[in-house]
Amino acid sequence: MAGYILGIETSCDETAAAVVRDGRQVLSNIISSQAELHRHYGGVVPEIASRRHVELILPVVDQALQTAGVNLSDLQAVAVTAGPGLVGALLVGVSAAKGLAWAAGLPLVGVNHLEGHIYANFLAEEQPELPALCLVVSGGHTDLIYLPEHGSPHILGRTRDDAAGEAFDKGARTLGLGYPGGPAIDALARGGDPAAFAFPRARLGDDSLDFSFSGLKTALLLEVEARRRAGDLADRLPDLAAAYQEAIVSVLVDKALRAVREYQVKCLLLAGGVAANSALRRQMQVAAGRAGIPLFYPPPVLCTDNAAMIACAAHYYLLAGQVAGWDLNAFPSLPLGKRPQGPSLEERIC
Ligand code: KG4
Ligand code: ZN
Repeated sequence: MAGYILGIETSCDETAAAVVRDGRQVLSNIISSQAELHRHYGGVVPEIASRRHVELILPVVDQALQTAGVNLSDLQAVAVTAGPGLVGALLVGVSAAKGLAWAAGLPLVGVNHLEGHIYANFLAEEQPELPALCLVVSGGHTDLIYLPEHGSPHILGRTRDDAAGEAFDKGARTLGLGYPGGPAIDALARGGDPAAFAFPRARLGDDSLDFSFSGLKTALLLEVEARRRAGDLADRLPDLAAAYQEAIVSVLVDKALRAVREYQVKCLLLAGGVAANSALRRQMQVAAGRAGIPLFYPPPVLCTDNAAMIACAAHYYLLAGQVAGWDLNAFPSLPLGKRPQGPSLEERIC
């Protein structure tokens, strides 16, 4: 039946499946997080992630279909994240999607995970107007993206070292907060003073829209050691978290605002796990207001990895006639702007 797309996402440590109608209405959004499994190691262990995906993928898909009240035969297509991500993890989702699509005689859509994050902003009644600027900030990416029209994102700036989410995770580890670090720093920072410590902000030259967070991480480490020697580390943890978060967020906001002005966009979008950060949302709201354009950000559950965003992106792939072949592979380093190739929809139907 036209309109219902099953999305599957297994690029990292979330096994997720969702049913989305017409690229907008989320009928189910099942996410089984493996965070507990990886917490012990301080980060995602690829082999463990792949094995867990194998165990969970079919029950998660079943639950997504049941919650949405649809059968495979009701679907328009099966969509799956084909990259970027952990290759073993991606392969589980790609193989499951191929099997389901083949069995049900449905088109298969291979979705770029980063585009998926952008499209989480389109899962709403109010649709963002293009051209738009989107800041994708996740555990693996910090990309400032210009989206003049559907299907043609350009990267204007990106991180030269650590991603923003990685900076949050590594900072949290230095502060003894565990994994994943972003939500922990966000919560602790609420009780701290962002001006308590002057952490460095890498501007990388006046014209650059690139980011760098590795120096900041070192500065935090040095300050934590200094506080430990002074004996007041425990008391100063909220201040350290707030100042560290402020150093990350202020650079993201400044550069996004500069790009908004340069490219004369109609709206600003946030995407990726770090888009759940409360300080980033607050400060971006002020910046967008100053630029006179609306800010869109998905609810937290659609900021971190999920399959609803993959099904939403697939809706736009299908509008452009882009489906994958049965030879669809996993692409661990798939860049933004590249969609996993396949024969055209016309070729598939003939
Ligand atoms: O998009 P995502 O779920 O997975 C990737 O594709 O990487 O992003 C995960 C990242 C982690 O680094 C996590 O610490 C960060 O998003 N994150 C946050 C917050 N919630 C998740 N960072 C800052 N503040 C948050 N509230
Ligand atoms: Zn992601």
